[in-house]
Amino acid sequence: SERDSLYIIMNFAKDHYRDLLMKSDEGKSIGLSYFRERGFNDRTIEKFELGYALNEWDNLTRTATGKGYSEDMLEKAGLLIKKDEGRKYDRFRGRVIFPVQNLSGKVIAFGARILTKEKDQPKYINSPETEIYHKSNVLYGLYQAKNAIRKEEFCFLVEGYTDVISMHQADVENVVASSGTALTEDQIKLMRRFTENVTVLYDGDAAGIKAALRGIDLVLKGGLNVRIVLLPDGEDPDSFSKKSGSTEFKKYLHDHTQDFISFKIGLYSKEASHDPIKKAEAIREIVASISVIPDPIKRSVYIQETSMLLKISEAVLFTELNKILIQDR
Ligand code: GTP
Ligand code: MN
Ligand code: MN
Ligand code: MN
Ligand code: MN
Repeated sequence: SERDSLYIIMNFAKDHYRDLLMKSDEGKSIGLSYFRERGFNDRTIEKFELGYALNEWDNLTRTATGKGYSEDMLEKAGLLIKKDEGRKYDRFRGRVIFPVQNLSGKVIAFGARILTKEKDQPKYINSPETEIYHKSNVLYGLYQAKNAIRKEEFCFLVEGYTDVISMHQADVENVVASSGTALTEDQIKLMRRFTENVTVLYDGDAAGIKAALRGIDLVLKGGLNVRIVLLPDGEDPDSFSKKSGSTEFKKYLHDHTQDFISFKIGLYSKEASHDPIKKAEAIREIVASISVIPDPIKRSVYIQETSMLLKISEAVLFTELNKILIQDR
């Protein structure tokens, strides 16, 4: 079938990019040395099947058609771009390659990172949607994380490819990435097949915190328990794990994991202890998050916790909660 052909051609491309990374002069001197500079060892490169696309217009297309693959299939796989004027070229050129595997380990897409700092070029280019790749229900790294998630009984959620990879190298394997796309309900459903517990570990910058807040409510709505780790400002799991080393990094994760209530209290109530208006805002934000939890028993446990931490009566909190629940009905 067409789907099978797509799996086969994606596997061919993956192997080709790997060969180029490990064996070609350009791949070794540019791609492999880039990964080395980022601290990725051979085992890691192997585990994630990392590769390199030559800086040529049609290297993949020429190689693949030479082996009997059709341009039509290359285009359907998102590997070949055809313009109306008849121009055609490989989608991924002069970039390091991050294959995306499905749950059984088959390659369904690629992410490709630029190596230079060209202002007019996007840092990452990803495969388009294809018959075998629907990005809204894929989590990068899930194939490599499956067993660890079941064993640890929770899963870290990070932003990017390199965060997943560096965490494996730091010996934390229960980790997946939404890979740039805003987290979706389907991705949460996918996670729920493996665990009920998610720990959000986004970049320690304003964008990361904003994305974390949105992610928390979505994960809660999906019926999962959510915790969060805040990284130091300007760090992401990749940079921070490298800076700290495995042991320190794991200790940091352990010591800085908080539930979403204390995270939100921390965010909204820096000044709230002195400012009743800020405190009221914080309370509303927290109750709003609690209101999206499907399980009424969990809701009431979190109301109790909020009551304790913010020193406000449960009755007031329940009144606010019920107001929101009735509005949203
Ligand atoms: P590195 O710079 O390689 O460490 O990547 P990063 O993962 O730290 O990147 P960043 O925090 O900027 O973005 C997080 C994720 O968003 C990346 O891993 C990508 O999946 C995605 N992303 C970042 N930049 C782009 C882009 O220019 N285009 C697209 N499509 N996705 C991007
Ligand atoms: Mn489909
Ligand atoms: Mn970022
Ligand atoms: Mn990042
Ligand atoms: Mn990074």
